[in-house]
Amino acid sequence: MMPSTAAILDRLLAAPFVRHAEWHDTIASTNDRGNELARSAEIVTPLLILAGRQTAGRGRGGNQWWSDEGALTFSIVFDPERDVPGCGGHPLSQEQWPKVALAAGVALCDVLQARLPQVPCRLKWPNDVLLAGKKVAGILVEVPPPGNSVPRRLVLGMGVNVNNSLSAAPAEIQAIGAALCDVAGERCDGADLLIDWLGDFAERLRALSAGDDDLVERWQLLCALRGKTIELQSGNRIVRGSCRGIDAAGALLVDTDSGLERLFAGVLVRVAE
Ligand code: BTN
Repeated sequence: MMPSTAAILDRLLAAPFVRHAEWHDTIASTNDRGNELARSAEIVTPLLILAGRQTAGRGRGGNQWWSDEGALTFSIVFDPERDVPGCGGHPLSQEQWPKVALAAGVALCDVLQARLPQVPCRLKWPNDVLLAGKKVAGILVEVPPPGNSVPRRLVLGMGVNVNNSLSAAPAEIQAIGAALCDVAGERCDGADLLIDWLGDFAERLRALSAGDDDLVERWQLLCALRGKTIELQSGNRIVRGSCRGIDAAGALLVDTDSGLERLFAGVLVRVAE
């Protein structure tokens, strides 16, 4: 028997990091909902917003995020200054915020790798997670504008292909995307995955606020582009070169003909071996 939504929410409320949770069978976008709630002084954070289906899911750069039933789609609204567990007086400063997506990606790699130790799981800078070389998840972190008497908040949205098998998807989708159930060869419990991710993410946020080197080492190790020749669109420039990984500030390092470039934003247009 499938557990009820109420039973799943109860488990999630007992999970690390979460203090409030809401479920939507169908919603336009959990990030839109997160941005709306982030404006209210009344909400309890960290707040988890989960959806069975999104009708207008959003990805980075204004892209659409489309996912079938069985995907894990959620957003978490949190106060980077107060909600980081065990931060011992080191709240996440504003310059750390761009690294939150990397911390979330590292945490997802950790939990996927624990389930599938033989299958490589990597971070594709800045916000994708790859399983066996194909995109299994995307992350979208947004910073709602500051409001009067409302704490600063971040909205972190994640879409993970868990039980939305891509086996019947068009070949062009199968060539670039992966679903956990297809790679594992069986259905996976999305709530278990989310609970594990929440625990790992909370620990990674704590490490970020404390400036722990092991988090930086981990994202450097997991960088799927390291050692590859890449081409990125950065503003109105194309940057070409050999990727040297992701540095402590979260920048992608690219060794170009004119020297080492550190990129904080960009769209990958080509990857060669
Ligand atoms: C990307 O790959 O560009 C990021 C995709 C992020 C998708 C998730 S699904 C849950 C949350 N709600 C949204 O509208 N987007 C994020």
